[in-house]
Amino acid sequence: MPQIVGGSCSIRMASFIPGFNNTLDPKAQFYLELASECASLLEGQRNLVTNTANISSLVYHSLLETPLREGKPVNWVGFYLLDAKKANSLILGPFQGKPACTEITIGRGVCGTSALEAKTVVVKDVHEFPGHIACDAASKSEIVVPLTTPDGKVQGVFDIDASELDAFDDFDRIGLEAIAAMVVEASDF
Ligand code: SME
Repeated sequence: MPQIVGGSCSIRMASFIPGFNNTLDPKAQFYLELASECASLLEGQRNLVTNTANISSLVYHSLLETPLREGKPVNWVGFYLLDAKKANSLILGPFQGKPACTEITIGRGVCGTSALEAKTVVVKDVHEFPGHIACDAASKSEIVVPLTTPDGKVQGVFDIDASELDAFDDFDRIGLEAIAAMVVEASDF
């Protein structure tokens, strides 16, 4: 995980993602630039809804527009957050894409599994994932990253769907985990 530097997200943090050390891979460069843009959007703002709304939009459009993802378009980017009113439940937060399921029980679907196990879940083919929750029939592959605060508590998940099989690799995982950590660092829960 990126080294958290100082109180708020800093540009310095955004330019240092350990998993991308010593690689000039264009995809690593893409995520380093995207993380820098995220840091600018998050700087000075601690409201969770505001931060997750802006990051959903930036990441959605950036992943759609980059030529690096030719043939692997994303169709949904957004957050499910811990429901303060309902135990053991995630509630739909800010997102980009088609309307989605509003509530997910922790332990259910890809999002619920990521939240329960507090780990990133990468699904090459959602039809092969037992209990996958199909909000958009176009989704074929998915990656879900937990939002884990320093006390180890999972506060929600960052969910990205693609309309092609096997659309997420290790660069995507490391880059999206770094962005999720930035959202956690910059926001009040
Ligand atoms: N597919 C997710 C549900 C959320 S939609 O992808 C937006 C899941 O199985 O948890």
